[in-house]
Amino acid sequence: MKKIAVFASGNGSNFQAIADAVRQGRLKAQISLLVCDKPQAYVLERALQAEIPSFVFNAKDYSSKIHYEAEVLAQLRKRGIEFIVLAGYMRLVGETLLKAYDGKIVNIHPSVLPNFPGKDAIGQALAAKAEETGVTVHFVDEGMDTGPIIASEVVEISSGETRESLQNKLQQIEHDLYPAVLQELLAGNKEELL
Ligand code: GAR
Repeated sequence: MKKIAVFASGNGSNFQAIADAVRQGRLKAQISLLVCDKPQAYVLERALQAEIPSFVFNAKDYSSKIHYEAEVLAQLRKRGIEFIVLAGYMRLVGETLLKAYDGKIVNIHPSVLPNFPGKDAIGQALAAKAEETGVTVHFVDEGMDTGPIIASEVVEISSGETRESLQNKLQQIEHDLYPAVLQELLAGNKEELL
């Protein structure tokens, strides 16, 4: 069973979906660590409930990304982590982790990339009066929500759509799509997804 780490910064509904999929046997992996950069994030409570260990750091306590990522890397190595899953981790991954986990870091983003990268993708789609948006799972590189796309799903934006209704639609898709894509990736079936 591959040992994975999930990185998250906030509510952690994707973390929950992944943990549920593992518990139910739909995702054959072991979540060996939650890495979180926000000491108050609700995802930490979810990890506690799921009995998954977490490593929390505050970037402000370190002089640079190189320093906090060195500590994160040490935690990952200590636990034998083979694969990193970003799930609402709101930081750019730096060269320390990218080098150590080359081709083994994935992210989920609430738009059909390359549209609406970065923060508040849902607000960006609404402000642009786009007719559709969606969800993308992709490999992580040094860019902001760039990197080879693994899977995506499109959602129509209906007239009268609110931020809340769109967010609900997108999150429901995320919660199904991410565990399913992770299962294929970890089983080595990447080609079927591309
Ligand atoms: C998710 O919608 C995820 O796609 C997004 O943050 C949300 C986290 O929600 N990620 C990004 O925007 C990355 N650029 P969650 O904490 O409930 O899983």
